[in-house]
Formats: sequence, C-alpha cells, structure tokens
Amino acid sequence: MFVHEFCGSWMEHPFLRARLLLEQPRDLERLLATTIRQVWIDTGKGADIAPGITPAEVSEPPCNETSPGAPARHTRTSVELLQARQIIGQARDVLKTMFKDVRLGRPLDLAASGLLVDEMAESIKRNPHALIGLARLKTADNYSYMHSIAVCALMIGLAHRMGLDEHQVHLAGIAGLLHDIGKSKVPLDVLNKPGALDAEEWVIMRSHPRWGYEILLPQGLDHAVTDACLHHHEKVDGTGYPDGLKQDDISLMARMTAVCDVYD
Ligand SMILES: [Fe+2]
Repeated sequence: MFVHEFCGSWMEHPFLRARLLLEQPRDLERLLATTIRQVWIDTGKGADIAPGITPAEVSEPPCNETSPGAPARHTRTSVELLQARQIIGQARDVLKTMFKDVRLGRPLDLAASGLLVDEMAESIKRNPHALIGLARLKTADNYSYMHSIAVCALMIGLAHRMGLDEHQVHLAGIAGLLHDIGKSKVPLDVLNKPGALDAEEWVIMRSHPRWGYEILLPQGLDHAVTDACLHHHEKVDGTGYPDGLKQDDISLMARMTAVCDVYD
C-alpha cells in the first residue's frame, strides 16, 4: 500500500519520508511495531484494503483523536460509521440534484439541505470522527459532491470547537455544503479536466465564487452563507479572488470556509 499519511507524530515512526510505498514485509513489520494505529492510504498509488473488510473494522482510532480538549465521545466510531454512511449517501443525492438543477437552469431547491445539515450536525455531535473521516474519502467521479460534504462536515466540527451557537453551527454547515455551488456553471470539460488548466480555463474556474453567489442570492439565505460562498478563495494577504480582500475584510465565515476547503 502507498501510505499517504501516518496518523501520528513523525517521531513515532522510523521512516525517513512522510509518504511512501510499503513494498517489503519488513517495512510493514516496522510500521506495526510503532505506536501508530492508523494511516491514510492512496489507492491510486498502491493496493486497496482487502475485499470484505468494511470501514467499521478498520476505524479506530482516527487521526487527531487525542487532540487536547476534544469533547468526550458519545458513540463508538464503528457504530456511528453506519449512520454516517447513510447520511453521506443522502447528502450525495441532494447535491447531485442541486448541481443538476442549476446546470439545467431549474430553480434551486434548498429545503433538503437544511435538514441534511442538521442530521450531519447530530452525527458529528454523537461522534466527530465517523462522518468527517468518511466524507474525506473520494473517487474521481464523486469528487465534487464529496468535497462539498466534507467541507460541510468540517465546518460543523470547526464551528462547534470555536464555541459558536447552534444557529451559527447550522449556518456554517450550510455554507460548507453550498460554497462551491457555482462550479455547477463551470463546463464539465473544464471542471473534470485531468491535467493543468490553461489561462482561459483558469478565468472560467475562478468565476465560480461569483457564480455561486449569484445562484444563492435570490434564495434569501443568511448573509454569512452567501458571503462565504463569494469569498472562500480570498487570502489574508490580498492575493485571493474575486475581490482581493485582505485581513479583517474577509468575514469569519468566509475564513472558516477557506480553511476547511483547503484542508479537505
Ligand atoms: Fe471553491
């Protein structure tokens, strides 16, 4: 397998590189002998886990589990994973429909997204690792949807950790779910291009925050949500887009969205 990330400090493993292909049985034994109990693998560069093994069996403990101040867990990750998988299935369908509606010029139906975000927030409250961990697993064909789901889940987790109230947590989730809705206006050959984009394609791609803002504006959403959509590619040094905002001119929600977007 290709190890993309060791979930632990570099001092906990004997390898010189942070990412590597495990080829020798001896290397696997060295890894198993460490205190590291979980790794992220890249199945594009190495073998996948053996068929028949479900995520529930390989789930504990996730990365960063021992971070200081982490809330007590209410359910085991392996239990919550089953629920999280169902929620992600629903979320994928909701997002697919939303992206398709925008592409076809149909009105956007946001009724389902509010309920979905509440369900995700409940799952994350029961156990933050299951949903966030699962949402970060992507394949090429579901990338756009899974990215929106992952950013939504990360936003809910971040808002919780920042001590924001329930309503702000909900808005953070909505902002995460919808931040890239403008990509539904990007032609599919640009959106799914496997290689690097040329200058013209970049101009199109960089239009997605404004397109998203224009899609969301008539929906009567909270300003924090539409602003996060418009400004999630701004940077504190002013080199971001579309408005080149700096420092405190970027709203809290837009900064949170940028962090979760880049993290995922
Ligand atoms: Fe984006």
